[in-house]
Amino acid sequence: MRSAFTIFITLFLISGQGLCFKVHGCTGGSLLFKCMYSNQKSSDVENDGAYFSRDNPYKMVINTKIQSCWSHNGRFAVYDDEIRKFILVLIKNLSREDDGTYTCGHDHKWNHNVELVVKSESSCGTSVIQASYAGQETTIICKYQDKFKKSTKVFYTLNGDPVHMLNSSSQSSVKRFSLSDSHKDHFNVTISSVSAEDDGDYLCGVERSDDQRSSSITHITFIQKIHLNVTNKITSVQVQAYIGRIVFIKCKFPQKIKENKKFFMRAESQKIMLDEQNQWIHHDNVHMYDNTTEGHLKVFISDLSAANEGTYRCGVNIDQDDLYTEVKLNVNKAGDFHSSSEAAFIGESVKLTCIHREKNTVNHICKENHDKICQNIVSSNKGRVQISDSTDGVFTVSISNVSVRDAGVYWCGAKTRDTHLTFISLTTKLELTLTMQPVMGREGDSAEIRCPNEDHNLSEIKYFYKGKCFTQEVPIIRSDEGHIKRPHISMKDNTELNVFTVNISSLRAEDAGIYCCVVRDMFIISTELMIIMKEVPVIHKASVRGSASISCKCIRKHTQHQRFFCKGNQPNICVHAGVLVSFNKPANSRFSLTDECSAGVFTVNISQLTEEDSGKYWCGEESSGSFLFTEVHLNVNTETNMPDPNSANSEFSVIVVVSVCLILIAGCLLLLFFKKKYYSKQVRTGITSSADRRQTADHETDQEEIQDSSPLYSVQLPTIPSDGLLYASVSFQKHGESLVEAAVAFNKDETHCDYASVNHRLTHN
Ligand SMILES: *[C@@H]1O[C@H](CO)[C@@H](O)[C@H](O)[C@H]1NC(C)=O
Ligand SMILES: *[C@@H]1O[C@H](CO)[C@@H](O)[C@H](O)[C@H]1NC(C)=O
Ligand SMILES: *[C@@H]1O[C@H](CO)[C@@H](O)[C@H](O)[C@H]1NC(C)=O
Ligand SMILES: *[C@@H]1O[C@H](CO)[C@@H](O)[C@H](O)[C@H]1NC(C)=O
Ligand SMILES: *[C@@H]1O[C@H](CO)[C@@H](O)[C@H](O)[C@H]1NC(C)=O
Ligand SMILES: *[C@@H]1O[C@H](CO)[C@@H](O)[C@H](O)[C@H]1NC(C)=O
Ligand SMILES: *[C@@H]1O[C@H](CO)[C@@H](O)[C@H](O)[C@H]1NC(C)=O
Ligand SMILES: *[C@@H]1O[C@H](CO)[C@@H](O)[C@H](O)[C@H]1NC(C)=O
Repeated sequence: MRSAFTIFITLFLISGQGLCFKVHGCTGGSLLFKCMYSNQKSSDVENDGAYFSRDNPYKMVINTKIQSCWSHNGRFAVYDDEIRKFILVLIKNLSREDDGTYTCGHDHKWNHNVELVVKSESSCGTSVIQASYAGQETTIICKYQDKFKKSTKVFYTLNGDPVHMLNSSSQSSVKRFSLSDSHKDHFNVTISSVSAEDDGDYLCGVERSDDQRSSSITHITFIQKIHLNVTNKITSVQVQAYIGRIVFIKCKFPQKIKENKKFFMRAESQKIMLDEQNQWIHHDNVHMYDNTTEGHLKVFISDLSAANEGTYRCGVNIDQDDLYTEVKLNVNKAGDFHSSSEAAFIGESVKLTCIHREKNTVNHICKENHDKICQNIVSSNKGRVQISDSTDGVFTVSISNVSVRDAGVYWCGAKTRDTHLTFISLTTKLELTLTMQPVMGREGDSAEIRCPNEDHNLSEIKYFYKGKCFTQEVPIIRSDEGHIKRPHISMKDNTELNVFTVNISSLRAEDAGIYCCVVRDMFIISTELMIIMKEVPVIHKASVRGSASISCKCIRKHTQHQRFFCKGNQPNICVHAGVLVSFNKPANSRFSLTDECSAGVFTVNISQLTEEDSGKYWCGEESSGSFLFTEVHLNVNTETNMPDPNSANSEFSVIVVVSVCLILIAGCLLLLFFKKKYYSKQVRTGITSSADRRQTADHETDQEEIQDSSPLYSVQLPTIPSDGLLYASVSFQKHGESLVEAAVAFNKDETHCDYASVNHRLTHN
């Protein structure tokens, strides 16, 4: 400093009194120059103050009575440094009108003329606002003209008074500031870890000398003014979310501070610092994750309510300062967003339908994990999960080859990207249930349910629940407890095949229902255990083009149970992928179903029968996934209409045979009678004869009744022997009353009887 002084003083001494020099500025820019004292003895006398005035017309611009302190007058400022013997003059925001001759000096002691040249030059006299974030590095770029490439570059702060910060000649870095010159067209001033105190105006410029007097006296032409706007708020983002739904916010922070502690807070309330990094932290319905690998703060707000609406700060802590992104969370009414459930069989594909309202967004789907955090599934399931483009705010997600792991709760919605923040508004909730083919069990027998276990941690506890899979309570059995609690249920964990099996023995109707195999609190897979009632199948007979009325027994009499009837070898044909195949009463259908369970049956009427209708049928009833079946058979004969000519013929032949017999008997009796009359004494004959006659008459009326009623009810002859008994069923339609199914038992031995039909009738009567 002292040496610089000496140079100035020497210069002054050489130039002598009345020194005149030229300074150059540009319009909009600023200037800083020195006027050296020309009277060394001035310090002896009383200081009246330095001045700077405009010569023509003479006008005092500014003068100062206080030393070592800047005096300001509008765009002008003067600093009187009596010890170092110079006056500093700063002129800001130059204009062409400032062009002219000025005088600087000390009252009545000395003065100099200064010629001010103001030109308008490109890339000079600019003024910029530069945003910078707390804790961050910021670089101010100053562009200069080619002619200054060899000049010394300077950087000043200007918070009222100009203060020299650094220059390219001797000190190019001071504390957090550093200057680097391209020596071509620009120089940079980089400020690291910007803090609030750096906020303010800066000037960058070049040092130049009076062109005519060569390098004698230098002055500074400031070519750019920079307002550094230091802010803690990176940005402010409006986030749209919906009541009862979820919003997921990801705030991105600069790499340099990615390991600093993050926070999430309501603008007006206490800050929640995340003391634990790289793990989920839960605060009520707000879940946060500070990822130091990426420098992201993930915030997941579930079960949104109107109370969650507000302004939040998603931030990072830097020294004593904060840097944050403002999140303006709007919680809107949920509207038409729906929740739905889908069921899929393992290996099949499933389509999920999603709705969102946002525009210019990316469709998104995620799956809830154990912590109820919804995680993107597209990246981890390459190719298997496909998201369609949306049309009218609706898009579909298809998942192919579903496996046990795919079961669970999904959310979908829209993703909105911003430079510093990404948010996903999750609007549609979907529950995906994975099901296995139903398991059939016969009443009294045992059934085995095989649960696949794709979670390869073999030591996990397995659970087996009955009922709703998404709201589990107490398991009916678990792998880590004895099987004493329920003697008819046992569990076997087969770690080799990676399945666990549950065996339910002595099956009863109450065992029918939905069961869930669960590993580690996470729903895995469900299946239906369907019970086939241990009742001997009823066989119905009917004719082609005729109709059949089949009555099914109601096992559970509650009216809310669904009744159905379907055809197939196994009852699971009735249920496929959760869709029930039943004959409900569609118009024009040949099938009709009448629920009369109050009377113990429901009736199925099939009309316009064809031969193909023959076969095995299942009477089914269902309530909340609990299925019970009873088997029935239908035989459709090729013969034409009812009345069955066969049965009529046979009955007719019976009648003929009986009648012939009766006539013969009567003939014989007559012969005997006459024989007796002729050959012996006439005793006790009439009694026998009348008794025989009465019996015969009874017989005849019975036969007539059969003939009369045969079109009104059908009698199926026994066909299937079972348990040493033969069964037949009779359906009465005569009186239009509720149908009663009657199973009539015959002793096997009796079937040798030639008069089976007669026998039957007698039994019934
Ligand atoms: C450059 O900075 C040094 C140290 O602050 C100072 O001594 C010198 O006078 C400065 N030069 C210019 C041209 O401002
Ligand atoms: C100044 O900063 C800019 C932008 O960061 C950079 O491209 C340029 O290379 C820097 N120049 C110098 C001389 O450091
Ligand atoms: C500084 O930045 C903040 C936030 O970006 C803005 O509100 C303010 O107006 C800026 N100030 C100036 C002087 O540009
Ligand atoms: C954290 O970031 C790393 C690196 O990108 C990533 O692999 C990891 O999955 C992230 N963790 C979480 C929980 O998002
Ligand atoms: C379906 O997924 C299973 C595993 O879950 C895999 O073994 C099988 O190869 C997949 N099938 C197809 C067709 O991708
Ligand atoms: C189930 O258990 C019963 C009785 O313990 C047993 O008789 C039956 O064979 C078992 N069934 C299966 C399919 O393992
Ligand atoms: C497997 O499960 C056991 C018991 O829950 C647990 O202690 C262990 O950490 C798990 N292992 C893995 C690899 O997840
Ligand atoms: C079955 O329905 C048809 C047509 O509705 C009807 O004509 C027929 O009488 C019914 N049959 C029985 C056995 O109820």
